Amino acid sequence: MTYDVAAVRSRIPALKAGGAHFDGPGGTQTPQPVIDAIGASLAAPLSNRGAGTPGERNADGIVAEARQAMADLLGSDPSGIVFGRSATQLTYDCARTLAKTWSPGDEVVVTRLDHDANIRPWVQAAATAGVTVRWADFDPATGELTPEHITAVLTERTRLVAVTAASNLIGTRPAIDEIARLVHRAGALLYVDGVHCAAHAAIDVGRLGADFFVCSSYKFLGPHLGILAAAPDLLEGMRPDKLAPSTDAVPERFELGTLPYELLAGARAAVDFLAGLGTPPPGTRRERLAHAFAALEEHEHALLRRLEEALTGFGPITPHARAAHRTPTLLLTFDGRDSADAYRYLAERGVIAPAGSFYAVEASRRLGLGDTGGLRVGLAPYNDAQDVDRLLEGLADFLTPHPNSA
Ligand SMILES: Cc1ncc(COP(=O)(O)O)c(C=O)c1O
Repeated sequence: MTYDVAAVRSRIPALKAGGAHFDGPGGTQTPQPVIDAIGASLAAPLSNRGAGTPGERNADGIVAEARQAMADLLGSDPSGIVFGRSATQLTYDCARTLAKTWSPGDEVVVTRLDHDANIRPWVQAAATAGVTVRWADFDPATGELTPEHITAVLTERTRLVAVTAASNLIGTRPAIDEIARLVHRAGALLYVDGVHCAAHAAIDVGRLGADFFVCSSYKFLGPHLGILAAAPDLLEGMRPDKLAPSTDAVPERFELGTLPYELLAGARAAVDFLAGLGTPPPGTRRERLAHAFAALEEHEHALLRRLEEALTGFGPITPHARAAHRTPTLLLTFDGRDSADAYRYLAERGVIAPAGSFYAVEASRRLGLGDTGGLRVGLAPYNDAQDVDRLLEGLADFLTPHPNSA
């Protein structure tokens, strides 16, 4: 499979600033076609959605194209694609809406592996509804969250399980399809946080068995926009708070206020850009995406191997990303040195790998890293071997005792 990383890089203007970006899990750099699509949507007539004027038709077309693009990316129904400001906002909205149907004595399950965006909305909605929260653990030694961890907290009162498709801290990819079978057997709904996963792997929401799948386009080369995928029938049965004059149709019922059309145009362009990675053979966009993600995974994992093999010789580094099935995202700590110092040291050399717990505070604490976390190194579609070598050189230098250091 071919993956022309130089061609990818040449289309991302921000990389011309010279940075080696390992901060993709926090947000990726933006390709020119995405920037152009945002600009073009604003350069043409643009009004509120409708059929009467060019501006209305443009807005309507942008929404329809964006829903279709997201459905192609996620393997879901375009009529069940809901747009929102962020994954956090969409999850809060969903939690508040579902909580209206919960009764005291019901239970929801959250996990210690998740980003707080897929924990706190459920915990807070549960508190309001008088519902019990059960916590699924993960194994800090292996980084694995297994179906058994979920089984341990499922009961006949479980109404919903919220779990990540991939940890934004240590990359772990739980077996969502197996978890879905367990959750559905218990008669509960499965809410999957796909924000980190969707940047690295082809997604098929139906095959995963997720009732809800949330992601964010700024993690996969697009603009800052949240996306929720669910079956239209499921959404039909939900009653979110909404304005009286706004439509009750699905999915618009869930989209509060006017949609950010320019961002939707950018998100559609990001999906098209992804669909071109690895020069796939002609086919539907969904088919090209499948090919592109296979090429991307091969590329990212080759770089990950190069990085991990080199790091084994570094001595005082502890890698915390250990799960058998995971994204190319590493969390590193340094014996006797602060990861925040490593971040600053690398940043001075144009190597961008932030330190922290990245809102995955429960996971960071469970790993014994408190709220401090570690240095996160995340690979993205535009990283190349030279980036990895710059990172390795920077880390080697950071860890070398210098004559004037204490
Ligand atoms: C795994 C994961 N879930 C949720 C979020 C929150 O996404 P958003 O910024 O769209 O609310 C993030 C952001 O970093 C994330 O990495």
